[in-house]
Amino acid sequence: MKMTMIAAADNNWAIGNKGGLLIRIPNDHKRFREITTGEVVILGRKTLDTFPGGQPLKNRTNIILSRNKDYAVRDAIVVHSEEELNKCLEDFADKQIYVIGGESIYRLLLPYCDTALITKIDYSYTADAFIPDLSKEGFVLAQTSEEMTCFDIEYRFEKWVRADRK
Ligand SMILES: NC(=O)c1ccc[n+]([C@@H]2O[C@H](COP(=O)([O-])OP(=O)(O)OC[C@H]3O[C@@H](n4cnc5c(N)ncnc54)[C@H](OP(=O)(O)O)[C@@H]3O)[C@@H](O)[C@H]2O)c1
Repeated sequence: MKMTMIAAADNNWAIGNKGGLLIRIPNDHKRFREITTGEVVILGRKTLDTFPGGQPLKNRTNIILSRNKDYAVRDAIVVHSEEELNKCLEDFADKQIYVIGGESIYRLLLPYCDTALITKIDYSYTADAFIPDLSKEGFVLAQTSEEMTCFDIEYRFEKWVRADRK
C-alpha cells in the first residue's frame, strides 16, 4: 500500500484558517480531482464538514476519521482510531491512498506517507492550521513544476519524497 499526502500550503506551511482553506485555486482543485479520482482518500471529520453539503468526494472511496461512534456519513466509511484505519486499509491494498487533511490527519499519517504532493503557494497568509515543514521531516524536494499564477498569486506543484526512499 502506498500512502501519499496531498495538500496546498503557503510559505509558512500554513494550510487553513478559521476552518477553511487559505485560497481557492481552480487549477489546483482540478489537478486534485484528477489525481485522486478512483482512489482512496482519508480525511478528518472537520474537513468533510467544509465540503459542499458536507458530502464525501464523488468517485473516490472516502474514509473519514471521527472519534464519535454515532457519526455516520452516506457513501463513506467512518473509522474511529488509527488502529481501525489500519485495519480498514487492508481492504484497499491495491489502491493508491491519499491523505487529504486537515491538519490533525496530516500530522497523524505523515509517518506512513512516502510521498507528499504539495501545491506551494508563494504567500504568507494569516492562518491557524499548518503541516510540518517537510524538509525537517526526512523529505526532500524531488520535483517542482514551473511557477503558475492565479490572479496575483504565484504557486507551483511540488513532489516531496522521503530521502531514504527516493
Ligand atoms: N490546504 C489544504 O490542502 C487543506 C486540506 C484539507 C483541510 N485543510 C484545512 O485544515 C483545517 C482543518 O484541520 P483540523 O485539524 O482542524 O481538522 P481535520 O483534521 O479535518 O478533522 C479533525 C477531526 O478528525 C477526527 N480525528 C482526528 N484525529 C483522529 C483520530 N486519531 N481518531 C479518530 N478521529 C480523529 C476528529 O473528529 P471528531 O471531532 O468528529 O471526533 C477531529 O475533530 C481547515 O482549515 C481546512 O480548511 C487544508
